Amino acid sequence: MSMLAGKVAIVTGAGRGIGRSHALTLAAQGASVIVNDLGSGITGGGSDGGPAAAVADEIRAAGGAAIADATDIAGWDQAKALVDLALARFGRLDILVNNAGITQYESIATESGAGWERVLAVNLTGTAALMHWAVRHWGEQGPEPGRAIVNTSSPAGTNPPPGATSYCVSKAGVAALTMATASEIAHLGVRVNALAPMARSRMTDAVPMLDDIMRTPELGFDRMAPDNISRLMLYLASPACRFTGRVFGVDGDDIYLFEGMSAETHLSNGGAAWEQEALADALGSVERQDRAYMIAPNMHLRAGAPSQAALDALDAAARGERAAPAWKSIIES
Ligand SMILES: NC(=O)c1ccc[n+]([C@@H]2O[C@H](COP(=O)([O-])OP(=O)(O)OC[C@H]3O[C@@H](n4cnc5c(N)ncnc54)[C@H](O)[C@@H]3O)[C@@H](O)[C@H]2O)c1
Repeated sequence: MSMLAGKVAIVTGAGRGIGRSHALTLAAQGASVIVNDLGSGITGGGSDGGPAAAVADEIRAAGGAAIADATDIAGWDQAKALVDLALARFGRLDILVNNAGITQYESIATESGAGWERVLAVNLTGTAALMHWAVRHWGEQGPEPGRAIVNTSSPAGTNPPPGATSYCVSKAGVAALTMATASEIAHLGVRVNALAPMARSRMTDAVPMLDDIMRTPELGFDRMAPDNISRLMLYLASPACRFTGRVFGVDGDDIYLFEGMSAETHLSNGGAAWEQEALADALGSVERQDRAYMIAPNMHLRAGAPSQAALDALDAAARGERAAPAWKSIIES
């Protein structure tokens, strides 16, 4: 079965990890694939055309069609060049998988401006710019069914933990971008959805607290294999997909559909402006802490918003006490 015969796909960050798995999956279904990867380090420095070339070779060796590309997608002009490459080499574009991503493990206090800019540029601006040029092209072509964009958010975007602030913000931005654009491009036959994945890669290898969870099992289902993410990506990229504007968490065989950035408490003053005292009174009985969100239930990962430790630290500071920071970097074991 070649579900995507005749289709052309761009996959960014496809030289390794989840993106590599996406590129192989799409090619195995008959799509011609632009295998983009800058070949940078996890935090965004450096470049190496080797990973993209190796994946394109792998696809061609299996009888598929692929072109390697090492464009840095973090900018509007570069993104245009990548869309133009797909059109020049394969004559059309049907599927855009925005997967390239980097991370930096800084808090708002330790953030360097340059690090912040780079994470936002790769994860969010690159995604938006590629969407822009693809949609511009599709607009010129007119409506056609079966077009798809699959973006990559993160559980760190939907339920942000402390200690990788720019990353969380960029991935929350990708979720918002996905929701905001769905209605803007539906008339062109384009669906846009986002993944919030959990899978073994060099990015998770850098986080010691994930070691046990990410270990490859000797027997049975390998929950953290990147291929589990690509199975949902394929559904979202294929004509079978019924959704647009949704964020899908994926953890092994568990799939979660997020519901916007949902509110859990609603207060109303009966259509009249709140007086400060009444407002403080009404909010005085609301729990300060959301139920701890599950990032990935099978991994027992939780992120409260805020954590109990943060509330305790805040109360201690209000009493004039010195408290230790209420969090620990996830790259410290
Ligand atoms: N692995 C996980 O559990 C996990 C969880 C949440 C989100 N994600 C997201 O999934 C995506 C894939 O991550 P991964 O875990 O496979 O990591 P990875 O580091 O193995 O792969 C990311 C790839 O993106 C490429 N890249 C980085 N900057 C680029 C740029 N400017 N232009 C082109 N390519 C660039 C890198 O060279 C790398 O090959 C990322 O967006 C990541 O944030 C992963």
